[in-house]
Amino acid sequence: MALRAIRTEEDPVLRKICKPVTDFNSHIHTLLDDLRDTLIDSGGVGLAAPQVGVLRRVVVVMDISREDLPPEEQIIELINPVIIAQEGEQCGAEGCLSIPEKYGVVTRPESVTVSAFDRNGNKFEVSGSSLTARAFCHEIDHLDGKLYIDIAERMLTDEELQELYSQDEDVSE
Ligand code: NI
Repeated sequence: MALRAIRTEEDPVLRKICKPVTDFNSHIHTLLDDLRDTLIDSGGVGLAAPQVGVLRRVVVVMDISREDLPPEEQIIELINPVIIAQEGEQCGAEGCLSIPEKYGVVTRPESVTVSAFDRNGNKFEVSGSSLTARAFCHEIDHLDGKLYIDIAERMLTDEELQELYSQDEDVSE
């Protein structure tokens, strides 16, 4: 198990455009393993490679619709992900592991379908709704140097934060 340090808001690496993965080699496998470990350790719902300082189009997302599974089996690995379809709209609280202890109100599609490659270079599609759709959008934005604070309508107040924390659901990505 290897944890990597999560970069925070002021780190310029979070504003760079990530390069596509062309070689599905052991470096990418190690990166994915470390992203998994780091995400599980952090308790968030998604993590993108630039958040650990690697400028590659690689993300991991927890599929929270599979809460019956152990955390390591809930994780979806996405390489070179692209949103190919989206439907509806949801507006709610969104956080980021790179912007600790803050949340903003962000509108996202209610459901999305993503095309991506797995760690062996096989192309696949995956759909998600609700928080999973939010996480797909949030993580893919990270690959283009975008943070949710760029599009948030507003940040949550201290009172709203207290309420969010009392729900015991971590929505940091
Ligand atoms: Ni994030």
